[in-house]
Amino acid sequence: MTISVAHKTIENAAHDLQEKWHAPFFLYDLDALKRHLASMTVPKGIRLFYAVKANPLSAILKEIHQAGLRFDVASLGEMRQVLAQGVDANNLINTGPAKSANQIEQMLQAGVRCFVAESRQQLSLLNKLADDLAVGQLDILLRLQTPGPDQDCDTSERFDPLAMASVFGQTIDEWSAENLEDYPALKVIGCHCFQWSNLLSVDDLLAHWKHIIPVMKQLSQNLDFDLKVVDFGGGVGVPYDKGHAAFDWQDFCAQLGTIKDTLPGSEIWMELGRYAVANCGAYYNPVIERKSNWGQTQLVMAGGVNHLMRPPLSGQAFPATMVQESFERPSEFEEMDVYGPLCTGLDKLGRFSLPRTIKTGDWLRFDMVGAYGFTEGMPFFLCHTLPGEAVYQNQQCTPLRHPEEADSWLK
Ligand SMILES: Cc1ncc(COP(=O)(O)O)c(C=O)c1O
Repeated sequence: MTISVAHKTIENAAHDLQEKWHAPFFLYDLDALKRHLASMTVPKGIRLFYAVKANPLSAILKEIHQAGLRFDVASLGEMRQVLAQGVDANNLINTGPAKSANQIEQMLQAGVRCFVAESRQQLSLLNKLADDLAVGQLDILLRLQTPGPDQDCDTSERFDPLAMASVFGQTIDEWSAENLEDYPALKVIGCHCFQWSNLLSVDDLLAHWKHIIPVMKQLSQNLDFDLKVVDFGGGVGVPYDKGHAAFDWQDFCAQLGTIKDTLPGSEIWMELGRYAVANCGAYYNPVIERKSNWGQTQLVMAGGVNHLMRPPLSGQAFPATMVQESFERPSEFEEMDVYGPLCTGLDKLGRFSLPRTIKTGDWLRFDMVGAYGFTEGMPFFLCHTLPGEAVYQNQQCTPLRHPEEADSWLK
């Protein structure tokens, strides 16, 4: 049961959850999310989708729906979660390298009509199932992969491994071998290409776009379809590092005009994950143990990569600070290595400058975990407690998931 509790500030709410749960938890600031979404205005001709993989929490999806974004779903689970929030299936597109017949069939039955095809096999399946179920023509984007602006090699070796694998989409040569007349149940409306991640510079993002546009145009000529939609996926970054400047959304919108000029008649789609939700989430995590090895202070936390997998995957820490219970600012800080509870050297959350006095029972708060947090972890390894999740809005804190001990899921 979810019971909301009034709290003047989100810090008060977090304090209450620490006392109540004694276990790691995620707390999402929905007021901040709403403000941020309201700031994400775009010029005419640009359509924003939310990439649900970044965070599928119901309360977050509702905010995103209210803000008018559509949804990019990668699985049946994500689709059902979005539909359960009252979103019309017409507002969904399905991307992702794995599309089984079962998944496509269920998505069609649920009313999804727009798919990003990543292979010839997907085209055939989509065509067959649309025909079998007599759902009318489906809108299709062909997902392209191509070497980026800085890469003159034609393999995927030098791509950002977080965003690009040579399994996403197909090359222009592969796609160009198709005959779209073989797929009468499909209407190809454009192309999709997304093979970069967490870019903080508008120029870097647009360099990728400018590089890919001629390839999309070439493919539309080769296969003789109108490029009504170009979908550039996500990849708008957030500054995990305090020294980095945030992505300049206003400048980005100002520069979109030059891109639109090269794409007359095309609508630009973006599927944003990280940029939409990273900032609204914080992860609270208690210190279990403090020790020192080779002159280096080490903290072992209740939660690590079982709850937050991104640091070892990306080599980039989420920013962390100690939760202060009083207004007294500690004056002495020290670089400390912060680990999780798993029996693997991968379970390191980062090295942070923390108050020298920190001890067992104190809490760290990791920021910017609203994206690629809770659902990206590996929560079952070693059977530690699963983290809680709560939201804060209009001075009310609502726990949506209590921390769960392993007995709840072990068979
Ligand atoms: C197809 C697709 N679209 C959008 C996104 C969201 O990317 P980001 O979080 O960088 O905005 C992803 C992330 O992996 C993706 O795979």
